[in-house]
Amino acid sequence: MAGLFITFEGPDGAGKTTQLKLLAHHLQSLGIPYIVTREPGGTPLADKIRALLLDVQNENMAPKTEALLYAASRAQHVEEVIKPALVRGDVVLCDRYIDASIAYQAVGLNLSPDMIRRWSVEATDGLWPHRTFLIDVPSEFGLSRIAARGTPDRIEGRGVLYHERVRRTFLELARQEPDRFVILDGSATIEAIADQIRHEMNRLLNL
Ligand code: TYD
Repeated sequence: MAGLFITFEGPDGAGKTTQLKLLAHHLQSLGIPYIVTREPGGTPLADKIRALLLDVQNENMAPKTEALLYAASRAQHVEEVIKPALVRGDVVLCDRYIDASIAYQAVGLNLSPDMIRRWSVEATDGLWPHRTFLIDVPSEFGLSRIAARGTPDRIEGRGVLYHERVRRTFLELARQEPDRFVILDGSATIEAIADQIRHEMNRLLNL
């Protein structure tokens, strides 16, 4: 597949969505074809799964149900959106992907990381991003930004200890795959982070 697959990860409230939009503007100004998408969701069917996952009323959802729904949403998203875009040669900018399931469902909910990884690898035919920008912030910091935005969703409302495990897992995943991950300090200014991301992207595009 000819395109470039880029994902953004980090604890809730890290600012990844802001950075993703800034990178989209950068690609736009260079005239490079790209798409912006997100998980869970990214297609009409996957957006319905997203609504189930984030609905605070689904408080009795079993951990494996939750993990399988994230994998199901991902299967649909890859098939319907990501693979066709990569085949066209587009840059795909995706807000969250498999790493989020390992952090939030495996470690966060005490499920086997190998099992969670396997489910997503099956769901995506083993499609991994070329680069993952991990925007790292202390959990309290991210959660206070989320609180300022309004009522937290089902995952955001899980408390600081859960989110601290999520953060540590992202950092551990980045340590294990230093060639794929770029770790960014989310407490730096928006412009400073965007600069680093643009620099890495230009390098990937041989500019
Ligand atoms: P997020 O990108 O934070 O959405 P938004 O910025 O619009 O709130 O993702 C939504 C939530 O889903 C977030 O709390 C993280 C969670 N999530 C998982 O638990 N597992 C996953 O595999 C993915 C993709 C997301």
